[in-house]
Amino acid sequence: MDKNQNFGGSFARKLKGALWQFRNDTDASFVAPEADYVSRLYFPLMNEAGMKCSVTPELKGDIASSFAHYLTPATGTEELHRNMSNRNFWICVEGKQPWSVSGNSALQRANKWTEAKDYSEVEGHLGCFKLIRESKETGIRAESSIFVPATDDLVEVMLVRIKNISDQEMKLTATAATPVFARHPDNFRDHRQVTSMFQKAESRKHGVEVRPTIVHDEKGHSINTTSYFVLGFEADGSAPEDIWSSLNDFIGEGGSLDNPEALSRKLKPAQNQDILASGREAIGAFRFAEKSLKAGETVHYIVLHGIKEKGQNPDHWIKEYGNLQSCKNQLDKTLKHWQEVSGQVLFETADKNFDQWMRWVAFQLKCRQIFGNSFLPDFGYGRGGRGWRDLWQDLLSIFLIDPAGARNEIINNYRGIRIDGSNATIIGNEPGSFVADRNNVARSWCDHGSWPLFVTEFYLHQSGDYDMLLQELPYWKDKFTHRSRKTDELWKEDQGTQQKDEDGNVYQGSILEHILLQQLSAFYNVGEHNNLLLEGADWNDTLDMAREKGESVCFHNFYGYNFGALAEILQQLKEKGTGSIKINEESLILLDSLNPATAIDYQKPEAKQKRLNEYFDQVQHQLSGKKVDVDIDSLIQDLLAKRHHIREHIRENEWISSGENEGFFNGHYDNNAQPVHGFKKDEIIIDLTSQVMPLMCETATKEQAKMAHKAAIKHLGDKESGGLRLCSEFKEIDLNIGRITGFVYGFKEHGSKWMQQNIMFMYGLYKRGMYDEAYDLFKDIYQINTDSAHAKTFPGIPSYFEPGNRGSYAYLTGSSAWMMLTVLTQMFGLRGYHGNLMLKPALHPEFFDQKGLAAVKTAFQGIQLHFSIHNPKRIDPKNITEMNLKINGQEAANQSAEKNCFIVAKSQLEDLCTQNINELELCIN
Ligand code: G1P
Repeated sequence: MDKNQNFGGSFARKLKGALWQFRNDTDASFVAPEADYVSRLYFPLMNEAGMKCSVTPELKGDIASSFAHYLTPATGTEELHRNMSNRNFWICVEGKQPWSVSGNSALQRANKWTEAKDYSEVEGHLGCFKLIRESKETGIRAESSIFVPATDDLVEVMLVRIKNISDQEMKLTATAATPVFARHPDNFRDHRQVTSMFQKAESRKHGVEVRPTIVHDEKGHSINTTSYFVLGFEADGSAPEDIWSSLNDFIGEGGSLDNPEALSRKLKPAQNQDILASGREAIGAFRFAEKSLKAGETVHYIVLHGIKEKGQNPDHWIKEYGNLQSCKNQLDKTLKHWQEVSGQVLFETADKNFDQWMRWVAFQLKCRQIFGNSFLPDFGYGRGGRGWRDLWQDLLSIFLIDPAGARNEIINNYRGIRIDGSNATIIGNEPGSFVADRNNVARSWCDHGSWPLFVTEFYLHQSGDYDMLLQELPYWKDKFTHRSRKTDELWKEDQGTQQKDEDGNVYQGSILEHILLQQLSAFYNVGEHNNLLLEGADWNDTLDMAREKGESVCFHNFYGYNFGALAEILQQLKEKGTGSIKINEESLILLDSLNPATAIDYQKPEAKQKRLNEYFDQVQHQLSGKKVDVDIDSLIQDLLAKRHHIREHIRENEWISSGENEGFFNGHYDNNAQPVHGFKKDEIIIDLTSQVMPLMCETATKEQAKMAHKAAIKHLGDKESGGLRLCSEFKEIDLNIGRITGFVYGFKEHGSKWMQQNIMFMYGLYKRGMYDEAYDLFKDIYQINTDSAHAKTFPGIPSYFEPGNRGSYAYLTGSSAWMMLTVLTQMFGLRGYHGNLMLKPALHPEFFDQKGLAAVKTAFQGIQLHFSIHNPKRIDPKNITEMNLKINGQEAANQSAEKNCFIVAKSQLEDLCTQNINELELCIN
């Protein structure tokens, strides 16, 4: 990129087109010139040890190791332009004004819209954020590389390279300055000054350690055991000369972080730094020795931000990161690590940009695993845990990347289910640590029980690991019963959070039993229109005010699908020799058709509710502990009857005809038991998710699927720039529906272009064989996401696009999992089928290169595959009539009767896959 092009001329980025472009064809790194002219931009940095940081083109953003442990003040999006706190690094050149490598000086700000502005550029690497900033006036080019090492250390490293770009020798001194917060983000507003008084600062050889005495918590304060460090090093490991721990002493009375008195007036730190800092706000600031740099010469500095438990010595950090050589080694290792992680599934298509963009999608999956829905600037509502439905959906693609880890996670998550089929909504990082609700409101989300089975079904197909279902696990127990409608007065905290039986023993049931109870509890929990009660909300969190009479037809579809899936899973177990299934005796009444005396009429919602309450009453405190054997065939029949009932009910009762050959599904009922969707005052009210689910869950007939798709495009499609809105407009606030009706139209759940549902729709269209429609939607989605001039986000998928196609809530969205899943398992068509390998490509001819080739590198059951599709005639996927497959050069046998599908038996796959990387060549003839 020709830097000079960007000097002078116009200042506003919007005149310059794309925000970023890939630097080459291979490592997915990108360059974004003048990224500091875009607001709200941020980039995640993390490691598996739990370090969680965000960084912006002004080196703002925060540094944390958990929700209770923030080294810097937590920074929400709106704080980014309001505060001056950052990882600042100053260069004072003799005879010039102090200059900040992050542009964070009063003078640089003043010059931002003038010819005297700096030039800046961001380089994004998987695992490292690099800010380049040049000032002709100061004669300096600074390159600041920030990364979180891929180690067990809770540190963030900033490596700064300073180059003299003037034609004269210069004298300079460098000063680092990071304000230290060292506590829980709640204390940002709550008791900020009080909690400062707990802070003790200590200047060390290389910088500053801040250690609060107490963790402030009005429920019961505790002793703090965590230390927060800011340390500095020269290239050879030398320590800084002057150290400030007192923020006030550094900025000066009446001073500010963008114009600190100590820099402007070249002051030395006051003698009694630590006394000045203790009990007050701290900073990790230090000045390095003066240097002389000839024209063209460079000098390096390292700033380390770290978090440590008491008693742990930070000395090894000095060895690992505290000089240029070791720091560079760590950076190389980190970059390599993230190349590996993002390259677990590697696409090779005709569009190299797409292939690289997918690496950032893979990176996002890891972000979600580590950050959950908290920490990054847009996620100001998160409180550190991971939400139930998100966690499950993420697993879908984690199977593709880290199958072994995902198995343990599934098992652990099943422990969060209550005996009434509801579940904890937040899962902590420790195995078995669950929370009823983030805000302590007693509620159940009606969709929650649907995700685990969907995900488990996928896992079983991928792995063939059916035995897992029989593993026994406890249930989670707290005071809430009857799907949070009642509380168990007999339960006390000291009884523990595991469900007990009458004898006081922890009750254990199979994973299969856990799954069954989730589906059955939802099946009977219907409202007056005989659809699933909406309860707290469904996937759409903002349909949250119809808690008594609201219904979610939308997720009723999902449970319907699940009953069919469960029946198929049981069929597999049966074929593997299981004749009966053990379940707790209380739940037998929910399998009503097993005994003619207990069978109920599914057309009667009251009968369903009555039955459910009978069960809830029986298990509200404890279980008998007795188990009964249920014949597997009878169980399958019972589940299929339930599947059939839900499907027919929705097809017949929730279809809204909007003209000849036109129609769509109603998705919800409000708290007055009125349908939300349909014709309202001559307008059509329609919801995207409510079309996605019947399609995906195969409730919609073929004709209905076509019409629902057409209606979604017609009523929700953005005619100008593509993509689908999440719903049509609610013109009036309606507290019988929820807060969705209060958002300005076009934002958030109220009609923004929500990526997750766009992608799930695409997934559903592929699944239903509607390849042309699916590809059209793919093109729109890809275009909106990569049109960075409008999206104003770095590569990846944000949660949604607001009016003007600006991306919002970047990185931590479940969309990444659905995108990975769709591209690999539907477009490339590589997925498991009861443990065998299925190849059913639906890739549009445009993906094939000049030779007619497209490929993906991935693993299946631990076997590394390089799967290439040869399509020299560029046959459209819907016209495929003949395919043959070679595995490492040998012809493979097809177990599928379908013409466009190839199934390789697991045994044959194992026999033929003898290499480290195995070549699978599928030829479309
Ligand atoms: C977010 C939340 C998810 C919720 C959805 C819709 O999803 O994380 O729990 O279901 O909004 O309200 P996203 O699409 O951003 O992953």
